[in-house]
Order: sequence, then C-alpha cells, then structure tokens
Amino acid sequence: MTKRFPEGFLWGGAVAANQVEGAWQADGKGLSTADLQPSGIMAPRVAQRQDDFSIRDVAIDFYHRYPEDIKLFAEMGFTVLRISIAWSRIFPAGDDAKPNEAGLAFYDRLFSEMEKYNIAPMVTLSHYEMPFGLVENYGGWGNRKTIEFFERYARTVFERYKDRVKYWLTFNEINMSLHAPFTGVGLSEGSGKQAIYQAIHHQLVASARVVKACHEIVPEGKIGNMLLGGLLYPLSCQPADVLEAMQKNREWLFFGDVQARGHYPAYMKRFFREHDITLEITEQDKCDLRETIDYISFSYYMTGCVTADKELDKRTRGNILSMVPNPHLPASEWGWQIDPLGLRVLMNQLYDRYEKPLFIVENGLGARDKQEADGSINDDYRIAYLNDHLVQVREAIEDGVEIWGYTSWGPIDLVSASKAEMSKRYGFIYVDRDDNGNGTLERKRKKSFTWYQEVIRSHGTSLE
Ligand code: BG6
Repeated sequence: MTKRFPEGFLWGGAVAANQVEGAWQADGKGLSTADLQPSGIMAPRVAQRQDDFSIRDVAIDFYHRYPEDIKLFAEMGFTVLRISIAWSRIFPAGDDAKPNEAGLAFYDRLFSEMEKYNIAPMVTLSHYEMPFGLVENYGGWGNRKTIEFFERYARTVFERYKDRVKYWLTFNEINMSLHAPFTGVGLSEGSGKQAIYQAIHHQLVASARVVKACHEIVPEGKIGNMLLGGLLYPLSCQPADVLEAMQKNREWLFFGDVQARGHYPAYMKRFFREHDITLEITEQDKCDLRETIDYISFSYYMTGCVTADKELDKRTRGNILSMVPNPHLPASEWGWQIDPLGLRVLMNQLYDRYEKPLFIVENGLGARDKQEADGSINDDYRIAYLNDHLVQVREAIEDGVEIWGYTSWGPIDLVSASKAEMSKRYGFIYVDRDDNGNGTLERKRKKSFTWYQEVIRSHGTSLE
C-alpha cells in the first residue's frame, strides 16, 4: 500500500527575518542583535556598525522582493510559510511606548500576498534576534523588565494580525541560549551559567505569558514552542554512556518540559544545586508558567553522540552544538551528520513525552550548488536528503505520531545563521548572491523545485 501524508497536512518552507529581509534600516526599523553579528552566531563579535559589512544588511532583499518569492512558493504548492517578525521593526528600541506603524504595515503586505495563494502564515515572534536597545539599556533577558517589553510586542502583533495568522511560535530554538547567549538572550558570550539560566527563566516566563495572551486574543489560533531537536545517542552501550546521553538530552528537553508541562522538571533541582545556580522564581512566575503551548515545533538537521569516556570525548561542532561524531553516519560538507532515521526516533520520543501535536519547522541540507553551463542546478544531494527524511516522517505518522506539518528550512537560498554565508545553500530556489554581496539577486528554480512540487502534489506518495 502506498503511504500518503494525511489530508490537511501543511507543506511549506521556513525563513527568518534577519536571514532574508535585508532592509536593516528601512521604515524606522531599529538595530537588532542580528544586525550586530556580521559574521554569524559562531563568531559573535558585536560589530561597530559604521565599519563593518554585513551580508544580512541586504540578505536576499525579501523585504522588497517578497511578491516574486511568494509566487514561487505558491507554484510549488505551499500551504504554509514560516516567517519571523523582526521585533525591532515593530518596537525599534524595544521599550518604545508605541509600535512603529511602518513596520506593522510591512507584515500586513506580506500576509496579503500569502492570502492571494492560500498560504497560511506561521509566525515566530523571535528568531535569534531582539532590539539591541534592550541589550544596551537593560541587559537583555537578564532583566525581568524584558518580559514586559516582549509581552507588549507580542500583544501588539496578536491584535494586529489575529484574523490573518493562526500559527504562532514563541522563541526560535529556545534551548540554544546555553550555547549562544548573545544570540539567544542578549548576554555576553562569557556569561556564567547562573546569569544564563536566570535569563532563560525570564524567557520561559515570557513565553508562557504570551501563550496566554495568544489564547485570549487569537482564540482559534495555535501557539507552540520551538526547540533545536538535538537528539544525542550514547557512543556505546556502556551504561555510563547511556546515563550521559540521558543527561545531555535533558539539557535541551528541559525547555520543552517547562513549556509543555507548565513547571520545572524534578531533575533540574539537582542540576542547579550541583552547579551553584540559585534562580529568582516568584510565585507569580510559577503561576504564569502553567499556561502551556498547544504544539511542539522543532528543527532537525543532524544527530550526534556523547560519551562518559574522557579519552573518546572528541567533539566537533555543528552550527551551535558540539557533539562526538557517530561512526555510522555520513556528514554534509559542513560536517553535519545526516541521520534520517533519527528523525523518526525523535518524533516518537517527543510525542511519547508530551502527547502534543508536532510540527517540523526546519529541516534541510546546506550545500554548495553548482550552476551547469546551461544555467541549471542539479541538486540531487538535496533531493536525496529531503526524500530520506520525509520517508521517516511518513513512518512516524504510521507509528501514530500526530504531526501537523513540515516546513523545510530555507526554501529559497538565504544567509546562513552560523557563519553568515550565502555559499551554504538550502533552497529549492537559487539566489544570485555570493558571500561578499556580489550578484544580481535574481531567483532561479533548481531541480529540487519540481521534486518538492511533486511531493506536495502527490501527498508524499512520490517519495521513494
Ligand atoms: C537553525 C536556525 O539553527 O539552523 C536557523 O534556526 C539556521 O536560523 C539553521 O539558519 C541552519 O543553520 P545554518 O548555520 O546552516 O544557517
């Protein structure tokens, strides 16, 4: 029997404001933390804006070219598009008393374009950026006041777009603040665990408060969290490795546990005690945290291993996480280990743990593409990667996992987050721009464009 994805399954792609929009100073936009990372998350030097070139300043100029891009997404058959709102377009300094109308109007135009083609928007409130003013003047998420500024921003966009946007997400890869504190919570890279976990606590409270606000303002909407699905295997079946893997997986599952269950899990008490961390958690915070998300969303690119054996603990780094390589898996050109079966394992684990619907909001292969003499781009490697992962999504559905949809990462080439490169491409659509900002920005369909179109049209029965 040919297995089909369910009717109503949402198919599409995902992008983030600071990786596609450009127009970094247009229409009253304020500086965001992403504007100050010209070399990406892995080299989080805060730039002096006057001197530094940043590829993100123009990115792929989605701010002006979105009608053409949405049309191409529609041609592929997208029924959903995940975008993020740049908080600093709406509240340029972060603590402004009133929102910036020109920023709000941009997203109205964008949603209108999506409505023309019946593409449902999914909106991330904060994708690896915040207004830099909040970092400079308040210390980012280290300050409890940031919770209120975020809530004000979220309520503003819920009110404005409540009739147009039904799928919302709070913080992109919220679990990554431990490894990239400037990007995640606006703290300097050298910050200690105490400061980072306190900032994370504020972000978790903010997340719960805006979940509540969404439930009030957009009653027929759905709001989820967003985790980097960083599945870690024990390097061996030594019980000590198994225990190590359990503990390392809890480092990121902790975020989902709070957001989906409404309270801190028991295992964190010991963790905090043993790391000399004492958090300020008020009674009101505990009450706020009880408002839980409607669905679990996550990104999935790779898996890795952990070991308790110091001799064997030789980690390599993905974009943010460091892991011990798995001897059984191949890797991408950027060293990310490719593991389609791991996606099925992860989906089952998340569904077993939370019993909430899932949404895969990022998955894809970053690769260098080559244009043939006739201009075509035959990205068979990307097709193979996506095919194999989607086959496992289909298997997980057969396993009984409830999943609402799939948005591949970067359906159009965009600026990579880790190193701010254009040469690491994820798209079905090629964009003519190189790492130095040269190129016409012209869009071109790759071979994977027609492949994905057929996957969507056939409800996944074309997968091999
Ligand atoms: C995720 C982020 O970590 O991975 C995206 O949410 C990012 O913003 C994606 O682009 C891929 O990482 P990279 O570094 O290849 O862009």
